[in-house]
Amino acid sequence: MDKALLKMPTIETKRLILRPVSISDAIDMFEYASDKEVTRFLTWKTHEKITDTYYAIENIFDKRIDNNYPEAYALILKTENKMIGMCDFVYFNENNRCGEIGYVLNRKYWGNGYMVEACQEVIKIGFDRFNLIRIQITHDINNYQSQRVIEKLGFTYEGIKRKGLVKWDGTACTLKKYAIIDSDYKNKE
Ligand SMILES: CC(C)(COP(=O)(O)OP(=O)(O)OC[C@H]1O[C@@H](n2cnc3c(N)ncnc32)[C@H](O)[C@@H]1OP(=O)(O)O)[C@@H](O)C(=O)NCCC(=O)NCCS
Repeated sequence: MDKALLKMPTIETKRLILRPVSISDAIDMFEYASDKEVTRFLTWKTHEKITDTYYAIENIFDKRIDNNYPEAYALILKTENKMIGMCDFVYFNENNRCGEIGYVLNRKYWGNGYMVEACQEVIKIGFDRFNLIRIQITHDINNYQSQRVIEKLGFTYEGIKRKGLVKWDGTACTLKKYAIIDSDYKNKE
């Protein structure tokens, strides 16, 4: 894919600015990445030191385009001008025309519908900018908060994958899997 397309545009929603993650987000990112409640269901280990966060930005997020992935979005809360979370394609395959969305939000800001607001834009970009035919999403079966976000976004439930993911601590979890395909998306527009 043309690398210029993978460079994500800045988008303004009602309450958020979505713009690519940058090294200047490290302090705000560390605030949630070091919170064990936030990382409980995630694949990556809770950050212990700010250097863990710098490492993640430099070695994962700054390398997205080189690895043929779209840049990851930082969610900036307009009223506070603060980076409160992220939303991105954690899997992106141009040949299969498929992407998978992942997200995380600072615990102080849970329960306000911010992630639904952000994901709606990422879904739009997936279909309209990248011409995907399928956008998928998964969550640990015990992660009810994520399940609610997915339901509110209108994803179709596709089933369970038992021992579908081994987390950083070596434990395997059961995943619930969902997708929106291009025809679902066009019918909703
Ligand atoms: C999943 C997550 C991004 C949801 O974001 P959000 O913007 O808070 O989502 P919503 O406001 O739509 O709330 C979703 C559900 O969380 C629950 N919830 C809301 N506030 C909560 C709080 N303070 N504490 C615990 N649960 C809460 C509610 O059940 C809510 O559903 P409802 O609107 O039907 O009542 C956020 O909880 C998070 O970052 N979790 C940790 C990271 C994670 O699990 N990522 C997903 C991996 S698949």
